Amino acid sequence: MIDLRTDTITQPTEGMRQAIAAAVVGDEQKREDPTVITLEERGAALLGQQEAVFLPTATMANQIALRLLTEPGDEVIAEADAHIFRYELGGPAVHSGLAMKSLETEDGRFTPAQVAELVNPPTDLHMATTKVVCIENTHNGGGGRVWPLEQVRDVAAEARRHGLFVHLDGARLLNAVVASGTPAAEYGSAVDTVTLCLTKGLGCPLGALVAGSAERMAKARRLKHLFGGAMRQAGIVAAAGVYALDHHVDRLADDHANARRLAEGLAAAGLPVDVDQVETNFVLVDVGALGLGADDAVARLRGGGVLLSFAARKDVLRAVTHLDVSERDVEEAIERIPRAITGAPRATVDAGTAPTPY
Ligand SMILES: Cc1ncc(COP(=O)(O)O)c(C=O)c1O
Repeated sequence: MIDLRTDTITQPTEGMRQAIAAAVVGDEQKREDPTVITLEERGAALLGQQEAVFLPTATMANQIALRLLTEPGDEVIAEADAHIFRYELGGPAVHSGLAMKSLETEDGRFTPAQVAELVNPPTDLHMATTKVVCIENTHNGGGGRVWPLEQVRDVAAEARRHGLFVHLDGARLLNAVVASGTPAAEYGSAVDTVTLCLTKGLGCPLGALVAGSAERMAKARRLKHLFGGAMRQAGIVAAAGVYALDHHVDRLADDHANARRLAEGLAAAGLPVDVDQVETNFVLVDVGALGLGADDAVARLRGGGVLLSFAARKDVLRAVTHLDVSERDVEEAIERIPRAITGAPRATVDAGTAPTPY
């Protein structure tokens, strides 16, 4: 089976396992875990912020960032398919009492004018105070699209003109960095808080960072406890993060090249794939254009030995390249995918096993 559902399914590499085994650890709640401290210092420098906090998941990092920047009753703006809105169970409302206002886009990237249009007038006593704009880079729902640095800066400048904060959900920020050649610190320092996930292209078994000013990160450490995310000998997994920052960043270029090759091969085989959409490690296949439902197409592909997942848009599938997908796998997938999709129908996927787009 060639598994292209998502980049979170990777196994730790041999080198990463050795780093985990050799980790020097301590009680991180007491700030006594040297490996966690190293990872946080590396993360802060990488992301161009004063401090970073190590957390179990990127969902927790996003939700802590929103909590830091807001008061209950405030409003947060994000793109309609943003993970923070669509796949975090209404977390902004549950954890922080926030109203959510979504922006419609083609590919996840929006403009300063779109932000300006959505900001509630601050003097209107009937309306929630718009407080945060959230940017997602790369944008998962948009097909792994990269925000140009200038566009991030322009949106941030517009947000600040209206007194808003900016959070960057950079779960896959290093994919954007490798694809664009823009240093992570340039993206990170353009915003107030930034999330980086360690389990996606970087291949760690768990972990994420949230970064921001020292004052905000002191508050983030309290929220980490409140949310139940303060750990003990977490250096065991932070060691994987340090290893990934040393060894798994530049190689993201291989995942991007593999995705492009896959897109070109599928397009050449006549499948509805827009090669120009592929900026990082996601390839979107518009099975609806072939008259197929996403469930049906996923079931056919499973029968043909390839796993893809649903994308955010209806009847569009997503193939994601990652650490455990080789060039040979890609060549094989280019053979198998068209054969499976245009072949006989298979049993449909039931709701419990439906491949979700995270
Ligand atoms: C853009 C984005 N943000 C946040 C997350 C949440 O990551 P986690 O599963 O670590 O909570 C994901 C997961 O897929 C994501 O794609």
